[in-house]
Amino acid sequence: RSRRPIIAIDGPAGAGKSTVARRVAQTLDLLYLDSGAMYRAITWLVLQRGIDPQDEVAVAEVIPDCEIRLAAGEPGTPFPSRIWINDQEVTRAIRSPAVTQHVSTVAAQPMVRQRLLQQQQVHGVHGGIVMEGRDIGTQVFPQAELKIFLTASVQERARRRQRDLAAQQHPPVSLEDLAQAIDERDRKDSTRRVAPLQQADDAIELCTDGLTIDDVVAKIVHLYHQSLNAAATTAD
Ligand code: CDP
Ligand code: CDP
Repeated sequence: RSRRPIIAIDGPAGAGKSTVARRVAQTLDLLYLDSGAMYRAITWLVLQRGIDPQDEVAVAEVIPDCEIRLAAGEPGTPFPSRIWINDQEVTRAIRSPAVTQHVSTVAAQPMVRQRLLQQQQVHGVHGGIVMEGRDIGTQVFPQAELKIFLTASVQERARRRQRDLAAQQHPPVSLEDLAQAIDERDRKDSTRRVAPLQQADDAIELCTDGLTIDDVVAKIVHLYHQSLNAAATTAD
């Protein structure tokens, strides 16, 4: 084998992908990459330039001169991984409500996806990485050794969001509103024409309702060792 293994983690908003992927990477001493942060960075730039996120032609025009740099989280580096667009650090800015609201619209555009797909694949050429997003197992790394489709009920994901917002001293938002925003983003992500959010045929579905982060991490680490053992047996 010329590269190290790859773990692909996909799933809907708030399923726990970022938290779990990062912990799995730390445990297995792999790199960690949050592909959603890249879609958020382009969305941030579009909004910052006053471009209508739905205007595909105008959005496509910013793509050629947008340079995204991402510290592919080495174990021990701070979280979230730092990210820059055209040399401006946007690590915090990409988490704003405005970016969250518009990111699915921008991420549905073929030019945007084409550009980021290439860059994501470059991060994985040597393997040894946990990448999370919506289309990692289906488009970015269909050859990944382990694919996880992480889910949780909308209610559970809304509760988690509410906890996260409270921890950031954000003014309170009702569970109903949060659930609706999550539903809306899932709907857009699942129904777009290019690379929709979809479970790969060979992905293992893991519902995280009622599971702690430690539980989920332990399950994935176990599945990883299992899949490597199976591959070694087949190779013999
Ligand atoms: O809020 P959350 O952490 O769940 O989302 P994210 O991972 O930061 O991704 C933000 C948005 O980027 C998603 O809602 C998708 O529209 C888009 N995305 C995508 O289209 N493909 C990916 N591989 C990752 C994210
Ligand atoms: O990346 P994604 O949007 O899928 O989710 P996240 O930002 O990693 O997780 C959303 C929230 O759920 C975080 O506050 C996690 O700590 C929490 N979480 C949880 O409570 N239980 C789990 N099994 C996984 C995540």
